Amino acid sequence: MVKICSSEQLLDRGLAYRFMLGERAAIALRYDGVVYGYLNQCAHIPIELDFNPGDVFDLSRQYLICSTHGAYYDPTNGLCLGGPCVGRRLTSLPVKEENGAVWLIEENIA
Ligand code: FES
Repeated sequence: MVKICSSEQLLDRGLAYRFMLGERAAIALRYDGVVYGYLNQCAHIPIELDFNPGDVFDLSRQYLICSTHGAYYDPTNGLCLGGPCVGRRLTSLPVKEENGAVWLIEENIA
């Protein structure tokens, strides 16, 4: 496992923590107490979701939103619920929270 950040760095529905997975940008975030990880890459056009670093939640704090064309995603599974790529998904990353930190479970990455 590789440490991404400390648990306290992820506030619920707050800024995502940006990190690199090799050459790919990724994010970790917390929603309703649970930590999730995704590649930071919109399912519409493969560019980063956030214009302001880590700012991936919409105004309602219920969805992740792409700052470019407004696709919005279910934070729990990455499914696009509206916008130009509805029905597609963010690429989910295997993460877990343990011992006060958020970890990437490397061996589970395809
Ligand atoms: S690039 Fe994200 S909605 Fe178009």
